[in-house]
Amino acid sequence: MLLAMVACPYTHAEVVESALQTCVQCHGDKGVSSQPGTPHLNGQLPAYFSEAMSAFAKGTRPTAVAQHKQLAVEQVAAVAKFYANEKTVPRPKQNIDPALVAKGEKIYANRCMECHPDNGRDSDKDAPYMAAQELEFLVTQTLAFKTGVRKFAFLMDDAYRGLTDDELAAVAHFFAAQDLLASPTEKKRRRK
Ligand code: HEC
Ligand code: HEC
Repeated sequence: MLLAMVACPYTHAEVVESALQTCVQCHGDKGVSSQPGTPHLNGQLPAYFSEAMSAFAKGTRPTAVAQHKQLAVEQVAAVAKFYANEKTVPRPKQNIDPALVAKGEKIYANRCMECHPDNGRDSDKDAPYMAAQELEFLVTQTLAFKTGVRKFAFLMDDAYRGLTDDELAAVAHFFAAQDLLASPTEKKRRRK
């Protein structure tokens, strides 16, 4: 451990800073994106983040963004940690149809909650956090799984079976409408 630190010519902060220079133009300062179709990265699980970057690099998860394939493994780990620590940076409120949120909530409870618990604020089976994620990104990704552009995770195909595009879009609206952090009253209710 000590040897590795001595051998590394850059500090942790420098590794993060140089890597982030290419990410901020789309994912925003501290991972809060302001561009439709671009996901927020702040607060994301480091394991999921690193897995996504590795899948981009290997080509097993498609992406049109060349910069997704350019980070070294140690940069990915450092950047994953940086974003995970920015969980309290607020995300912008989105313009979301309440009727679709209500429809999506029912589908969520039956089909998605098992791996995306607590309205998408928690995770099981290595799933990403989904609450308050950018709406257009969520809609695109749900359809990408359905059409096979993105490969289903283990057992996730079962959850999707028979759902229409409109139903999947409704769940995307539900996730997008959630707060990133549970309110103190919600936390208390859950502890009972
Ligand atoms: C040109 C704009 C652009 C740049 C630059 C960019 N991204 Fe992205 N990123 C996107 C878009 C758009 C998506 C969603 C579509 C896709 O997956 O390609 C995305 C998706 C991601 C995801 C998947 C998130 C999830 O929840 O599944 C990760 C992780 C990510 N980017 C990390 C990075 C990192 C780290 C950098 C800097 C090295 C970076 N991106 C640079 C636009 C960009
Ligand atoms: C059996 C567990 C499981 C169930 C059930 C499940 N998911 Fe997932 N979901 C995952 C995992 C694991 C990933 C990460 C997949 C990957 O990147 O390889 C994921 C990723 C996603 C993503 C991509 C998010 C991102 O940031 O890239 C979306 C969107 C999604 N799920 C929507 C849904 C919806 C909608 C449902 C219900 C219809 C659902 N999931 C049910 C496990 C599950």
